Amino acid sequence: MNHGIAWGAVVALLVGYCVVRQRSSISHIRGPPSPSWIFGNMLQFRLPSSYGDCEFKWFKIYGPVYRLKGCFGQNRLMVSDLLACQYILKSPHFALSPTTDNTVRLVVGDRTILRMRGKAHQHLRNGLNPGFTAAAARSFQPIFDNVAQAASFITQELELSGTAPIDIVPPLGIATFTAIAGAALGYSLDDLGEEYVATTQRIMVASSTQTAGHILADALGARLPTWLLRAALHLPTKTFNAARKASHLAQSLGAQAVKEKHDLVQQGLNTDGDIFGILLDQVHSNTERIPLTGEEIVDQTQTIMTAGQEHPLTIHHFLLSFFTKTIAFGLWELAKDPKLQESLRAEIHSSPGEAGQNGAYDQMPLLNAFIKETLRFYPAEAFAERMVVKDTIIPLSESITTSTGKQISEISVSKGQVVIVGIASYHRLESHWGADADKFRPSRWFEDTILNADAVGPYANLLAFLTGPHTCLG
Ligand code: HEM
Repeated sequence: MNHGIAWGAVVALLVGYCVVRQRSSISHIRGPPSPSWIFGNMLQFRLPSSYGDCEFKWFKIYGPVYRLKGCFGQNRLMVSDLLACQYILKSPHFALSPTTDNTVRLVVGDRTILRMRGKAHQHLRNGLNPGFTAAAARSFQPIFDNVAQAASFITQELELSGTAPIDIVPPLGIATFTAIAGAALGYSLDDLGEEYVATTQRIMVASSTQTAGHILADALGARLPTWLLRAALHLPTKTFNAARKASHLAQSLGAQAVKEKHDLVQQGLNTDGDIFGILLDQVHSNTERIPLTGEEIVDQTQTIMTAGQEHPLTIHHFLLSFFTKTIAFGLWELAKDPKLQESLRAEIHSSPGEAGQNGAYDQMPLLNAFIKETLRFYPAEAFAERMVVKDTIIPLSESITTSTGKQISEISVSKGQVVIVGIASYHRLESHWGADADKFRPSRWFEDTILNADAVGPYANLLAFLTGPHTCLG
């Protein structure tokens, strides 16, 4: 048998396996027609020509809950109804989907907080919390200010170097990486080493490039037995090799940082200038909480290092430098609106106190409104994929009409069903954000058109940092 026939047989077997295993309790939910059996609506959804292109159109036609077709006829439930989103993100009946879980393992390691559920998650979360308090964040502010200054010099230099358009994404990527290295480990970019920085950047580029092939691989991967999926992690592809290398280098960096801080604590020296230092200090102090062990802290290195600049979490496509892209999108909105630029600049320059002083940002209402609007309009994680691990019923805040004309106010979902929390769509609900929710307009944050009835997530009722037990720590 030649290779072509052998591969054909493998693919046919896998597709057959997908079809046989498929069962769905959401076929009666309305949704867009599927242009292809192989890809369903996934090319439209995941490779839009512009941000949220089809997604926001479907959302207007079908409302905040609808059905999408995944690859090979699978059904996916797309949800931006707030009650339903909260239920999915808080309930133990949902977990990362197998491909997401596998990608998380590959990119940030087996023992990361992102993969943990239940008590193991709670333990890590409690242990990491002291490094992420408001006081800790305030103490890192000089680090962020220095990085911001350096980034603005780089962009000024680029600007002076000619009239050609400037790509600000790479320097912003380096800036977020530097800020997190400083705040997490107390390290500079040089301390991280060229190899680690370059490898991580490579994964970021690779993972931000999505293709139809990735979508198919995801769909097949999601239906494979876990052992086969895990075995796939050892495939010697370029991206997998780079991810394994970055993860290995991060582990060594984490171990080195833990050792250095451990030695400082032993000598009675202060280590609370960065997250790892604060956590190590907890290990040695007589605190009532159960601190993390050195190994547990080391295991979170790559998660923390990549968390702010890329989100390995939503990893349908190894999400990436999306935080950087959120900033880039914000700057793009500013570039289109010189008046807003002027007002913002005036507010910053007339603000009492230096930018680096505690509390200075709180006295800049327009800057805060601009940041909120940027996170609302361009959330770093536009959607979060979850899989049902135990049959359950999702409640809805508003009833919907099914394809058979029935009104329902809850949806039964069976084990194995993939659901998509539409973060970006929730951020455009007119009932929450006003009739012009699909316009970028920071001034909305000064008006009472925003519905503040529901307390969602840790910041400005946005889902950008998610909500529930896995709410962003950073
Ligand atoms: C604007 C910047 C950021 C955004 C929008 C953001 C967003 C998110 C989101 C959406 C999640 C949940 C992911 C999921 O479970 O699907 C998350 C989790 C997490 N984030 Fe962030 N994040 C940001 C910055 C950071 C930074 C700077 C750090 C650390 C230095 C960080 C650390 C974490 C950690 C540790 C988790 C896992 C929490 C858990 O599973 O319990 N994040 N973040």
